[in-house]
Amino acid sequence: MSETKKLFVKTYGCQMNVYDSQRMQDVLAPLGYQPVDDPKGADMVILNTCHIREKASEKVFSDLGRIRKHKKAKEANGKDRMIVAVAGCVAQAEGAELMRREPMVDMVFGPQTYHRLPEMVARANRAIGRDRIIDTDFPAEEKFDHLPEQVSRQGFSAFLAIQEGCDKFCTFCVVPYTRGAEYSRPGMDVINEARQLVAKGTREITLLGQNVNAYHGAGPTGGEWSLGRLLRELSDIDGLDRIRYTTSHPRDVDDDLIAAHRDLPKLMPFLHLPVQAGSDRVLQAMNRKHDGAGYRDIVAKLKDACPDLALSSDFIVGFPGESDKDFEDTMQMVRDITFIQAFSFKYSPRPGTPASAMELQVPEPVKTERIMRLQALLAEQQLEFNRNCLGREMDVLLERFGKLDGQLVGKSPYMQPVHVSGLPETALGQIVRLKIIEALPNSLGGELVDTPVQKRDSERNVA
Ligand code: 5AD
Ligand code: SF4
Repeated sequence: MSETKKLFVKTYGCQMNVYDSQRMQDVLAPLGYQPVDDPKGADMVILNTCHIREKASEKVFSDLGRIRKHKKAKEANGKDRMIVAVAGCVAQAEGAELMRREPMVDMVFGPQTYHRLPEMVARANRAIGRDRIIDTDFPAEEKFDHLPEQVSRQGFSAFLAIQEGCDKFCTFCVVPYTRGAEYSRPGMDVINEARQLVAKGTREITLLGQNVNAYHGAGPTGGEWSLGRLLRELSDIDGLDRIRYTTSHPRDVDDDLIAAHRDLPKLMPFLHLPVQAGSDRVLQAMNRKHDGAGYRDIVAKLKDACPDLALSSDFIVGFPGESDKDFEDTMQMVRDITFIQAFSFKYSPRPGTPASAMELQVPEPVKTERIMRLQALLAEQQLEFNRNCLGREMDVLLERFGKLDGQLVGKSPYMQPVHVSGLPETALGQIVRLKIIEALPNSLGGELVDTPVQKRDSERNVA
């Protein structure tokens, strides 16, 4: 057994990075690395970075400034070592530049290399100052095959990566460059990982991928499984009560997936389906491969299959060439469809992407004005949905303690945090039926309807 070492991991950006950070901790655990909450005094610091927008990238450099001080302090005695590593999409996209700008960074490695971490760490530990390590290889296939079983317990709801990379090449997006080509894990690998999670107490699984519904994993007897098929297989796992998936692309919503929303009670009636913009002109310039009518049509089919379904989305405002009229089309799309939750961003030109070289970049004040209007509308819709939940009964998976004494917090089928008081600690991990008695902009309050002896979501009519 190796001596215990302190590992500090900071995660930026998407849920895939949250998942990857957990996996890095799993890979490093056998080497004696234990996670800590503070970079001060750590033996190893990993910044798992995000490149999606300029702000996210810049944050890494400002954080590195702080880490530099901790490293100096730790290494002042000439004996101790703090390995500083930059992982994730900034590492992938700007590895060499990062090494040049930040001489104290010991290691830079991209998202497809995490299974090689033990070897890299051993090399970095041997190297005295000079031998810096950079590994930004593809492909994802090797990574998934070589990562160990998930050991860090993720709790009652867990992430499971089934797909990585993207072949869509939206003109604003760095993901196809930083995460590489689309790769899907074999179906049975996913099923087995899901079973292991359930055996450790997980009741809800969120399938992850940059373009998760492009999933086409190898089936066990030849052929391929679509996401719809994979969802059906997962649904058969006893003890798994709730399934979600994110992030999807409208073009990859096929009939099989729509049918899964109709047939599988374990599949939660909440879908993150980014549309980005409402104007056909802008959608085309973004290379989204669908127009506004196409998106509306998919939503109609999904709601037909699952009338309870509610949507969330991502939006970009101020894409190059976006006129007032184009922006109004986005507002109209939001009014027509209604989203119960959403993320909206000002367009941020990313180096190397086609949109960054487009003419007619939208001035910052215009972006600001548009995003404020859009966010106000989206917030209104979210609050209205929450208010409409008042008096309704919902199944809530209780996950953690609340801020107040005796309060527990769980998640509704629609991902709303729901607070409830007066339940014993042993109710954590259970799915309880709550009547909604309070509606706030970002959360709900509930009271118990049944006894906490749960029935599974799959046995009930959720919501
Ligand atoms: N500028 C602004 N937002 C972006 N996104 C991706 N690339 C950019 C960019 N260059 C947003 C999209 C995507 C989400 C993850 O991030 O809305 O769906
Ligand atoms: Fe980026 Fe998503 Fe478009 Fe792929 S589908 S390029 S990940 S925005």
